[in-house]
Amino acid sequence: MGNLSVWHEEVELTSFPALSKEFHVDVAIVGGGITGITAAYLLSKAGKKVAVLEARKVGEGSTGFSTGNLYATIGGEGMHKIAQKFDDQKLREVVESRTAAVDLIEQIIKEHNIDCDFKRAPWSLFTVEGKSQKFVEQERDAAIRAGLPVVSSVPYTAEVKDGFSVLNQAQFNPLKYVVGLANRIQSDTCRIFENSRVVKVEEGEICNVETEHSRVTADHVIMATHTPKGIYMVHTTLGPYREYAVAATLNGDELSSGIYWDMQETEHYSVRTFDSEEGKIVMVLGEMHKVGQKEENLECFHKLEAFLRKRFDVGEVVYRWSAQQYKPADTIPYIGISTGDRRTFIATGFAADGLTYGTLAAMIISDEITGWQNKWSHTYTASRLTPIASAPNFAKENINVAFELVKDWLANDVEKFSEVRTYEGKIMDIEGSKHAVHRDGEGKLHIVSAVCPHMGCIVHWNTAEQSWDCPCHGSRFSKEGEVLEGPAINPLKKVE
Ligand code: FES
Repeated sequence: MGNLSVWHEEVELTSFPALSKEFHVDVAIVGGGITGITAAYLLSKAGKKVAVLEARKVGEGSTGFSTGNLYATIGGEGMHKIAQKFDDQKLREVVESRTAAVDLIEQIIKEHNIDCDFKRAPWSLFTVEGKSQKFVEQERDAAIRAGLPVVSSVPYTAEVKDGFSVLNQAQFNPLKYVVGLANRIQSDTCRIFENSRVVKVEEGEICNVETEHSRVTADHVIMATHTPKGIYMVHTTLGPYREYAVAATLNGDELSSGIYWDMQETEHYSVRTFDSEEGKIVMVLGEMHKVGQKEENLECFHKLEAFLRKRFDVGEVVYRWSAQQYKPADTIPYIGISTGDRRTFIATGFAADGLTYGTLAAMIISDEITGWQNKWSHTYTASRLTPIASAPNFAKENINVAFELVKDWLANDVEKFSEVRTYEGKIMDIEGSKHAVHRDGEGKLHIVSAVCPHMGCIVHWNTAEQSWDCPCHGSRFSKEGEVLEGPAINPLKKVE
């Protein structure tokens, strides 16, 4: 079982060329996930000439590894936290804008006849064992104050102690959607390039966006890469987290369509079903931890599988995968012109709610570029300063980054290559430099520099995904050192 999500079933991925010739566009979009492809759609519809530059394939970053759930509510610290940190007005703006984003997705699907299993379904938050009851109560109050259609019933299989549902939310196959949309918008004025990793972005009257083999120049740049590539102020306000998903065949037809957030001690497990060729599948997503700070992460999959077996009558586990998210310090994403820039837009801090926020970011940024007044721009301003609302999470994340940086520079895992076992990765001092040493299934050693090229932290081994992950801002690298995701632009240095 590889690290492929359930959405890869039945989807024929796109096949766009790599960028090979230089040209000029109105807008260069870095990243071909839901944010980038939706922005390309909206901007080209508004008459702009656009180029999308995707490092791999469309939807193969975070979009294809999400839950496929679309909702106006928010995860993480919840809706009540927005009201606490700001006020009810801000909460209503967030909920209203997220509702508009889900509506836009539905409208695009209908208008372009995209087959992606979209359906309206309720979203439910509840506790079965009575855990986090207070959180459930606070969220119900906040949902009512935000004007959402709240009902008390929760159509879950296990007996629910307390909970509520919000009607008319939605689900779809996110990979089918973004692939379907990309295939429809490709044209002479909206060009999509795959296998075109961006290695340099320079701001100027004319922006310069370089890939490994070519470049485009542009009037504006959108960093639609989940977290902006390179060094940005916003990285100090984001917490990078990893979470896991397990999908198994469901015996019987007991769970109706819906988004189920089953409260555990301090977080929720997100549960939903999906109809596949193998029958009905139930999936659960959860077990979040900071990137690079849990080497023995196979246990996350085991815990999720145990949960599925406890709650449902399930058969074989058919998929398991993991995904990344970036939590904003004040609970609200950063969307718009980046601090200190004039022509570069960022869209980040979506936490676990990236499909809806990604679509919303595309709406806001495309309006800003085309000169339309977007009524939610001010809600998400990327260069905002919110010292009071941000303080607790800002301090927590940055103390953690400083701690990881100092701790890792002082310590090594092993002293000899022989101490690195098969499928393990260890940090070792070789001639006074930190090296990341991995032994593959055939006993071959792969050695790269352990110093993250983003800002110099030391990478950690990720057992479940066999990758080197940076605990500071979430960059991830393959065992050969190639960039998988995160803000790093360059790979881990090769060692001969
Ligand atoms: Fe910033 Fe590694 S991601 S130092």
